[in-house]
Amino acid sequence: TKPLKVAVLGCGSVGSQVVRLLGEQAGDLAARVGAPIELAGVAVRRLDAPREIDLPADLLTTDALGLVTRGDIDLVIEVIGGIEPARSLILAALENGASVVTANKALLAEDGPTLFEAAAKAGRDLYYEAAVAGAIPILRPLRESLAGDKVTRVLGIVNGTTNFILDKMDTSGAGFEEALQEAQALGYAEADPTADVEGFDAAAKAAILASLAFHSRVTAADVYREGIADVTAGDVASAREMNCVVKLLAICELRGDAVSVRVHPAMIPASHPLASVRGAYNAVFVESEAAGQLMFYGPGAGGAPTASAVLGDLVTVARNKLAGTRGVGESSYAAREVLPMGET
Ligand code: HSE
Repeated sequence: TKPLKVAVLGCGSVGSQVVRLLGEQAGDLAARVGAPIELAGVAVRRLDAPREIDLPADLLTTDALGLVTRGDIDLVIEVIGGIEPARSLILAALENGASVVTANKALLAEDGPTLFEAAAKAGRDLYYEAAVAGAIPILRPLRESLAGDKVTRVLGIVNGTTNFILDKMDTSGAGFEEALQEAQALGYAEADPTADVEGFDAAAKAAILASLAFHSRVTAADVYREGIADVTAGDVASAREMNCVVKLLAICELRGDAVSVRVHPAMIPASHPLASVRGAYNAVFVESEAAGQLMFYGPGAGGAPTASAVLGDLVTVARNKLAGTRGVGESSYAAREVLPMGET
Protein backbone atom coordinates (compact mmCIF):
# COMPACT_ATOMS: atom_id res chain seq x y z
CA THR A 1 0.00 0.00 0.00
CA LYS A 2 1.03 3.57 -0.65
CA PRO A 3 2.54 5.12 2.49
CA LEU A 4 0.75 7.93 4.30
CA LYS A 5 3.03 10.93 4.62
CA VAL A 6 3.20 12.69 7.95
CA ALA A 7 4.62 16.12 8.77
CA VAL A 8 5.53 16.95 12.36
CA LEU A 9 5.44 20.62 13.36
CA GLY A 10 7.66 21.23 16.37
CA CYS A 11 10.44 19.09 17.76
CA GLY A 12 10.49 19.91 21.46
CA SER A 13 9.95 17.38 24.23
CA VAL A 14 6.70 16.03 22.71
CA GLY A 15 7.69 16.33 19.05
CA SER A 16 10.97 14.49 19.51
CA GLN A 17 9.20 11.62 21.28
CA VAL A 18 6.61 11.48 18.50
CA VAL A 19 9.40 11.22 15.93
CA ARG A 20 11.19 8.56 17.98
CA LEU A 21 8.05 6.43 18.29
CA LEU A 22 7.17 6.85 14.61
CA GLY A 23 10.54 5.29 13.84
CA GLU A 24 10.62 2.62 16.53
CA GLN A 25 7.02 1.50 16.07
CA ALA A 26 6.90 1.85 12.30
CA GLY A 27 6.11 -1.84 11.73
CA ASP A 28 3.32 -2.03 14.30
CA LEU A 29 1.82 1.28 13.21
CA ALA A 30 1.75 0.15 9.57
CA ALA A 31 0.00 -3.07 10.60
CA ARG A 32 -2.56 -1.24 12.71
CA VAL A 33 -3.29 1.44 10.13
CA GLY A 34 -3.10 -0.74 7.04
CA ALA A 35 -0.40 1.37 5.35
CA PRO A 36 3.09 2.50 6.27
CA ILE A 37 3.38 5.92 7.88
CA GLU A 38 6.31 7.78 6.41
CA LEU A 39 7.89 10.74 8.16
CA ALA A 40 8.01 13.36 5.40
CA GLY A 41 9.39 16.30 7.33
CA VAL A 42 9.84 17.97 10.69
CA ALA A 43 9.42 21.72 11.00
CA VAL A 44 11.60 23.39 13.62
CA ARG A 45 12.37 26.94 14.62
CA ARG A 46 16.13 26.55 14.45
CA LEU A 47 18.00 23.91 12.46
CA ASP A 48 20.93 23.90 14.89
CA ALA A 49 18.96 23.71 18.17
CA PRO A 50 19.92 20.87 20.54
CA ARG A 51 17.42 18.01 20.25
CA GLU A 52 16.61 14.80 22.11
CA ILE A 53 16.87 12.77 18.90
CA ASP A 54 19.00 12.64 15.78
CA LEU A 55 17.21 13.38 12.55
CA PRO A 56 18.45 13.21 8.95
CA ALA A 57 19.17 16.79 7.90
CA ASP A 58 16.99 16.49 4.79
CA LEU A 59 13.88 15.94 6.95
CA LEU A 60 14.35 19.17 8.90
CA THR A 61 12.99 22.48 7.70
CA THR A 62 12.29 25.91 9.16
CA ASP A 63 9.53 26.44 6.57
CA ALA A 64 6.53 24.89 8.33
CA LEU A 65 4.02 26.48 5.96
CA GLY A 66 5.93 25.20 2.93
CA LEU A 67 5.91 21.72 4.43
CA VAL A 68 2.15 21.53 5.09
CA THR A 69 1.23 23.07 1.72
CA ARG A 70 3.64 21.15 -0.50
CA GLY A 71 0.83 18.95 -1.76
CA ASP A 72 1.69 15.39 -0.72
CA ILE A 73 1.19 15.53 3.06
CA ASP A 74 -1.63 13.29 4.37
CA LEU A 75 -1.29 13.86 8.09
CA VAL A 76 0.00 16.77 10.14
CA ILE A 77 1.00 16.62 13.80
CA GLU A 78 1.10 20.04 15.44
CA VAL A 79 3.15 20.10 18.66
CA ILE A 80 4.42 23.67 18.57
CA GLY A 81 1.88 25.01 21.06
CA GLY A 82 0.60 28.57 21.44
CA ILE A 83 -1.86 30.42 19.22
CA GLU A 84 0.23 31.56 16.23
CA PRO A 85 1.70 30.26 14.00
CA ALA A 86 0.01 27.01 15.13
CA ARG A 87 -3.51 28.15 14.12
CA SER A 88 -2.50 29.32 10.62
CA LEU A 89 -0.54 26.13 10.06
CA ILE A 90 -3.43 23.87 11.13
CA LEU A 91 -5.84 25.79 8.90
CA ALA A 92 -3.41 25.58 5.97
CA ALA A 93 -2.93 21.84 6.56
CA LEU A 94 -6.70 21.22 6.53
CA GLU A 95 -7.20 23.35 3.41
CA ASN A 96 -4.48 21.32 1.74
CA GLY A 97 -6.28 18.06 2.45
CA ALA A 98 -4.35 16.82 5.47
CA SER A 99 -5.91 15.48 8.66
CA VAL A 100 -4.51 17.05 11.80
CA VAL A 101 -3.52 15.81 15.24
CA THR A 102 -2.67 18.48 17.78
CA ALA A 103 -1.76 18.71 21.46
CA ASN A 104 -2.50 22.42 21.54
CA LYS A 105 -4.79 23.09 24.50
CA ALA A 106 -4.35 26.87 24.44
CA LEU A 107 -5.43 27.14 20.81
CA LEU A 108 -8.36 24.72 21.16
CA ALA A 109 -9.60 26.51 24.27
CA GLU A 110 -9.33 29.93 22.66
CA ASP A 111 -10.49 29.25 19.13
CA GLY A 112 -11.58 25.60 18.81
CA PRO A 113 -14.73 26.31 16.76
CA THR A 114 -12.70 27.98 13.97
CA LEU A 115 -10.61 24.83 13.69
CA PHE A 116 -13.58 22.43 13.92
CA GLU A 117 -15.42 24.33 11.20
CA ALA A 118 -12.35 24.31 8.97
CA ALA A 119 -11.96 20.55 9.48
CA ALA A 120 -15.64 19.93 8.68
CA LYS A 121 -15.43 22.13 5.57
CA ALA A 122 -12.32 20.29 4.39
CA GLY A 123 -13.84 16.90 5.23
CA ARG A 124 -10.79 16.07 7.32
CA ASP A 125 -10.12 15.03 10.90
CA LEU A 126 -8.92 17.18 13.77
CA TYR A 127 -8.02 15.11 16.84
CA TYR A 128 -6.54 16.37 20.10
CA GLU A 129 -6.52 13.72 22.83
CA ALA A 130 -3.04 14.89 23.95
CA ALA A 131 -4.29 18.40 24.70
CA VAL A 132 -5.77 17.36 28.06
CA ALA A 133 -4.06 15.26 30.73
CA GLY A 134 -1.22 13.95 28.55
CA ALA A 135 -1.38 10.19 28.16
CA ILE A 136 -4.75 9.72 29.88
CA PRO A 137 -7.51 8.76 27.45
CA ILE A 138 -10.22 11.18 28.56
CA LEU A 139 -11.48 13.11 25.55
CA ARG A 140 -12.59 10.02 23.59
CA PRO A 141 -14.42 8.60 26.63
CA LEU A 142 -16.26 11.90 27.17
CA ARG A 143 -17.04 12.40 23.50
CA GLU A 144 -17.77 8.81 22.53
CA SER A 145 -17.98 6.19 25.29
CA LEU A 146 -20.18 8.38 27.50
CA ALA A 147 -22.14 10.00 24.67
CA GLY A 148 -25.24 7.99 25.57
CA ASP A 149 -25.10 9.01 29.21
CA LYS A 150 -25.54 12.41 30.85
CA VAL A 151 -22.36 13.72 32.42
CA THR A 152 -23.20 16.07 35.27
CA ARG A 153 -19.79 16.91 36.73
CA VAL A 154 -16.12 16.62 35.85
CA LEU A 155 -13.43 17.23 38.48
CA GLY A 156 -9.91 17.26 37.14
CA ILE A 157 -6.37 17.45 38.36
CA VAL A 158 -5.14 18.43 34.92
CA ASN A 159 -1.89 20.23 35.56
CA GLY A 160 1.04 18.05 36.54
CA THR A 161 3.32 20.90 37.56
CA THR A 162 0.97 22.36 40.15
CA ASN A 163 0.04 18.93 41.46
CA PHE A 164 3.73 18.16 41.84
CA ILE A 165 4.29 21.45 43.67
CA LEU A 166 1.32 21.03 46.04
CA ASP A 167 2.23 17.40 46.69
CA LYS A 168 5.84 18.34 47.41
CA MET A 169 4.66 21.05 49.82
CA ASP A 170 2.40 18.48 51.50
CA THR A 171 4.90 15.66 51.88
CA SER A 172 8.10 17.57 52.60
CA GLY A 173 6.93 20.90 53.94
CA ALA A 174 8.88 22.58 51.10
CA GLY A 175 8.04 26.15 50.20
CA PHE A 176 6.38 27.07 46.91
CA GLU A 177 9.54 28.35 45.17
CA GLU A 178 11.65 25.33 46.03
CA ALA A 179 8.95 22.95 44.82
CA LEU A 180 8.49 24.95 41.59
CA GLN A 181 12.20 24.79 40.81
CA GLU A 182 12.16 21.03 41.20
CA ALA A 183 9.13 20.73 38.89
CA GLN A 184 10.99 22.80 36.29
CA ALA A 185 14.15 20.73 36.62
CA LEU A 186 12.07 17.60 35.97
CA GLY A 187 10.67 19.17 32.82
CA TYR A 188 6.99 19.27 33.86
CA ALA A 189 6.54 23.02 33.86
CA GLU A 190 5.76 24.94 30.71
CA ALA A 191 8.61 27.15 29.44
CA ASP A 192 6.90 30.03 31.21
CA PRO A 193 5.66 28.58 34.54
CA THR A 194 3.01 31.31 34.78
CA ALA A 195 0.75 29.19 32.61
CA ASP A 196 0.94 26.37 35.14
CA VAL A 197 1.12 28.28 38.41
CA GLU A 198 -1.59 30.83 37.61
CA GLY A 199 -3.96 28.16 36.32
CA PHE A 200 -4.08 29.21 32.65
CA ASP A 201 -3.02 25.75 31.49
CA ALA A 202 -5.66 24.08 33.68
CA ALA A 203 -8.30 26.61 32.57
CA ALA A 204 -7.66 25.79 28.90
CA LYS A 205 -8.00 22.08 29.67
CA ALA A 206 -11.15 22.74 31.73
CA ALA A 207 -12.72 24.53 28.76
CA ILE A 208 -11.97 21.55 26.50
CA LEU A 209 -13.27 19.03 29.07
CA ALA A 210 -16.47 21.01 29.63
CA SER A 211 -17.08 21.38 25.89
CA LEU A 212 -16.88 17.63 25.35
CA ALA A 213 -18.55 16.54 28.61
CA PHE A 214 -21.58 18.77 28.05
CA HIS A 215 -21.53 18.76 24.24
CA SER A 216 -21.33 22.52 24.24
CA ARG A 217 -18.81 25.23 23.52
CA VAL A 218 -16.82 26.64 26.38
CA THR A 219 -13.77 28.84 25.83
CA ALA A 220 -10.93 29.72 28.20
CA ALA A 221 -12.50 33.17 28.68
CA ASP A 222 -15.57 31.51 30.27
CA VAL A 223 -13.52 29.84 32.98
CA TYR A 224 -13.11 31.39 36.42
CA ARG A 225 -9.42 30.99 37.25
CA GLU A 226 -7.30 31.21 40.37
CA GLY A 227 -3.77 29.75 40.57
CA ILE A 228 -1.69 28.32 43.39
CA ALA A 229 0.83 31.15 43.87
CA ASP A 230 -0.91 32.26 47.08
CA VAL A 231 -1.08 28.79 48.63
CA THR A 232 1.31 28.80 51.59
CA ALA A 233 3.06 26.01 53.45
CA GLY A 234 0.74 26.97 56.35
CA ASP A 235 -2.40 26.41 54.19
CA VAL A 236 -1.16 22.98 53.20
CA ALA A 237 -0.31 22.10 56.82
CA SER A 238 -3.71 23.18 58.16
CA ALA A 239 -5.48 21.21 55.43
CA ARG A 240 -3.44 18.22 56.55
CA GLU A 241 -4.57 18.70 60.15
CA MET A 242 -8.15 18.50 58.90
CA ASN A 243 -7.30 15.29 57.05
CA CYS A 244 -7.51 17.08 53.70
CA VAL A 245 -5.16 17.85 50.83
CA VAL A 246 -4.96 20.98 48.70
CA LYS A 247 -5.35 20.34 44.95
CA LEU A 248 -5.71 22.67 41.98
CA LEU A 249 -9.05 21.48 40.63
CA ALA A 250 -10.77 22.06 37.32
CA ILE A 251 -14.47 21.89 38.14
CA CYS A 252 -16.96 21.57 35.29
CA GLU A 253 -20.61 21.35 36.28
CA LEU A 254 -23.99 21.19 34.69
CA ARG A 255 -26.36 23.58 36.49
CA GLY A 256 -29.78 22.85 35.10
CA ASP A 257 -29.12 23.36 31.41
CA ALA A 258 -26.23 25.77 31.90
CA VAL A 259 -22.56 25.05 32.28
CA SER A 260 -20.23 26.35 35.01
CA VAL A 261 -16.46 25.97 34.76
CA ARG A 262 -13.79 27.05 37.24
CA VAL A 263 -10.22 26.36 38.26
CA HIS A 264 -9.01 27.06 41.80
CA PRO A 265 -7.15 25.48 44.71
CA ALA A 266 -9.54 23.33 46.73
CA MET A 267 -9.33 21.31 49.94
CA ILE A 268 -10.43 17.76 49.38
CA PRO A 269 -10.86 15.04 52.00
CA ALA A 270 -8.04 12.49 52.09
CA SER A 271 -10.65 9.80 51.44
CA HIS A 272 -11.60 11.19 47.99
CA PRO A 273 -10.00 9.24 45.09
CA LEU A 274 -8.50 12.49 43.76
CA ALA A 275 -6.54 12.94 47.02
CA SER A 276 -4.37 9.96 46.12
CA VAL A 277 -3.11 11.62 42.93
CA ARG A 278 0.52 12.37 43.71
CA GLY A 279 3.48 13.97 41.99
CA ALA A 280 2.98 15.15 38.42
CA TYR A 281 0.16 12.68 37.80
CA ASN A 282 -3.23 13.82 36.57
CA ALA A 283 -6.70 12.41 37.12
CA VAL A 284 -10.15 13.21 35.89
CA PHE A 285 -13.14 12.23 38.02
CA VAL A 286 -16.41 12.04 36.09
CA GLU A 287 -19.93 11.84 37.49
CA SER A 288 -22.73 10.84 35.18
CA GLU A 289 -26.34 9.88 35.54
CA ALA A 290 -26.19 6.24 34.47
CA ALA A 291 -22.53 5.26 34.87
CA GLY A 292 -22.11 6.89 38.26
CA GLN A 293 -18.55 7.76 39.21
CA LEU A 294 -15.54 7.09 36.99
CA MET A 295 -11.90 8.03 37.43
CA PHE A 296 -9.25 8.29 34.72
CA TYR A 297 -5.71 8.40 36.05
CA GLY A 298 -2.19 8.58 34.65
CA PRO A 299 0.77 10.67 33.56
CA GLY A 300 -0.51 14.07 32.50
CA ALA A 301 2.70 15.67 31.27
CA GLY A 302 6.05 14.81 29.76
CA GLY A 303 7.28 14.05 26.26
CA ALA A 304 6.71 10.32 25.92
CA PRO A 305 3.31 10.14 27.71
CA THR A 306 1.98 13.03 25.62
CA ALA A 307 3.43 11.43 22.48
CA SER A 308 1.50 8.25 23.32
CA ALA A 309 -1.79 10.15 23.03
CA VAL A 310 -0.62 11.90 19.84
CA LEU A 311 0.21 8.59 18.17
CA GLY A 312 -3.12 7.06 19.24
CA ASP A 313 -4.86 9.91 17.43
CA LEU A 314 -2.54 9.49 14.47
CA VAL A 315 -3.60 5.85 14.08
CA THR A 316 -7.27 6.90 14.17
CA VAL A 317 -6.97 9.71 11.65
CA ALA A 318 -4.80 7.56 9.38
CA ARG A 319 -7.39 4.77 9.41
CA ASN A 320 -10.16 7.27 8.68
CA LYS A 321 -8.15 8.76 5.84
CA LEU A 322 -7.64 5.33 4.24
CA ALA A 323 -11.32 4.49 4.72
CA GLY A 324 -12.35 7.82 3.19
CA THR A 325 -14.31 8.80 6.28
CA ARG A 326 -13.88 11.30 9.05
CA GLY A 327 -14.38 10.85 12.75
CA VAL A 328 -15.88 12.99 15.42
CA GLY A 329 -12.79 14.77 16.69
CA GLU A 330 -14.86 17.75 17.68
CA SER A 331 -17.83 17.73 19.98
CA SER A 332 -21.25 17.45 18.45
CA TYR A 333 -22.42 20.83 19.51
CA ALA A 334 -25.59 21.91 21.28
CA ALA A 335 -26.05 25.50 22.36
CA ARG A 336 -25.94 25.82 26.13
CA GLU A 337 -25.69 28.78 28.39
CA VAL A 338 -22.25 29.11 29.90
CA LEU A 339 -22.44 30.87 33.26
CA PRO A 340 -20.05 33.84 33.38
CA MET A 341 -16.75 33.13 35.10
CA GLY A 342 -17.76 29.84 36.63
CA GLU A 343 -20.82 31.20 38.47
CA THR A 344 -22.84 28.46 40.10
N1 HSE B 1 2.76 21.99 31.97
C1 HSE B 1 1.73 21.04 31.79
C2 HSE B 1 1.50 20.31 33.10
C3 HSE B 1 2.15 20.08 30.70
O1 HSE B 1 2.26 20.56 34.03
O2 HSE B 1 0.55 19.57 33.23
C4 HSE B 1 1.04 19.26 30.14
O3 HSE B 1 0.08 20.04 29.50
